[in-house]
Amino acid sequence: MDTFDKSLTNPHIVVLGVTGAGKSVTMDILSSRSLVTKNTQSAILDIEGEYKKRTEKIGGRIISIKQGVPSGINIFDIDVEQQENGLEKVNILNKVAEIRAILSGIMKNYMDRNLNAKELVDIEESVIETYKERGITSDKESIYEKEGGKIGNKLTLGKIKKRMPTLSDFQRILLTKKNSKELAEILSGFLKGKSLGMFDCTSNININDHAIDFDLSSINDEVTKFYASMVITTWITEKYMRRSERYEEKSVYIDEAWTMLKYEETANFIENLARRARKRGVRLVIATQLPDEMISTTQGRAILNCCGTAILMKQSPISVDKVIDYFKLSSGTRDYLLQARPGDALLDIEGTISAVSIEMLEKESEILKV
Ligand SMILES: Nc1ncnc2c1ncn2[C@@H]1O[C@H](COP(=O)(O)OP(=O)(O)OP(=O)(O)O)[C@@H](O)[C@H]1O
Ligand SMILES: [Mg+2]
Repeated sequence: MDTFDKSLTNPHIVVLGVTGAGKSVTMDILSSRSLVTKNTQSAILDIEGEYKKRTEKIGGRIISIKQGVPSGINIFDIDVEQQENGLEKVNILNKVAEIRAILSGIMKNYMDRNLNAKELVDIEESVIETYKERGITSDKESIYEKEGGKIGNKLTLGKIKKRMPTLSDFQRILLTKKNSKELAEILSGFLKGKSLGMFDCTSNININDHAIDFDLSSINDEVTKFYASMVITTWITEKYMRRSERYEEKSVYIDEAWTMLKYEETANFIENLARRARKRGVRLVIATQLPDEMISTTQGRAILNCCGTAILMKQSPISVDKVIDYFKLSSGTRDYLLQARPGDALLDIEGTISAVSIEMLEKESEILKV
């Protein structure tokens, strides 16, 4: 199914169905098929670790997020960005917005309050100062070493990126601000060596791998999962979704999305990802076993609105009427949706509905059966 088709206004796909309906198998088939038939790149937010073995088999990269272990993702890593006017710069204000969003989520979940205006100002100043310490400003040359292509005495090809600041640098600066003591103290638990210090490290992820699996299965507590999903969706939006010469198409897969949609902050991150992915021609494929929750929240509906294609699999008696109503299906589809077998679905492509059966090809079942 090629939703990158230019005749569609939107490549995103949402997969809705009860547990056991066949959503994960469908996601697996979609991603494996596009990986073997086209020059595509895929990134999966793998909450349950279901896609790990498949990713291994196809020679992709698994990034296991484990508490207390450096993940290879540095929240403060920054790159040169092309602006709408075509000029290139280091967009530090964009980083300020990213860090604010992550810290708002942390404050909300740990202290049950929003960031106040003074804290927001302190965050902006501290982010700018964190980069300034390394001589990084909006000037695109400022992220490279002055010595250009030299490591020690050896000459190398191309420019060498400076060592990037990390969360520890930012937290040290934030501690000096008188109005953000509480925030800085909370952040001390997110630093290297602490259980939440997974993202206070240098970057070492090769973003060119054709299949990247962010495995969150070893994280058991909700709040850590929440923090990790915010950081990873930001990383996907900022790093992975950049245009690349190497791949014709890119997709992002989020399974078990209900775990992220239940928090306002992480739902916002998915909504932002969906909008920006569309602008950059990246496809988002998102699956949830709780369609009624998605339909009944503002952010859930905003995400659904961004999806040109819906794959409607077996529904529960609780969700079926909401699904029929939202997708403007005829009442005759009710029994079909309640009784659908695994792999059976109604396919809604920008309002055109058809019944489909999603079947694995022999080769695919070899890859997917683990
Ligand atoms: N297209 C298909 N063809 C044949 N069998 C299928 C198909 N899709 C799913 N199944 C069967 O149904 C089982 C459950 O499928 P899957 O794990 O994809 O469900 P799910 O909707 O992701 O459930 P959950 O919400 O619990 O994650 C699979 O292990 C497989 O046996
Ligand atoms: Mg599943």
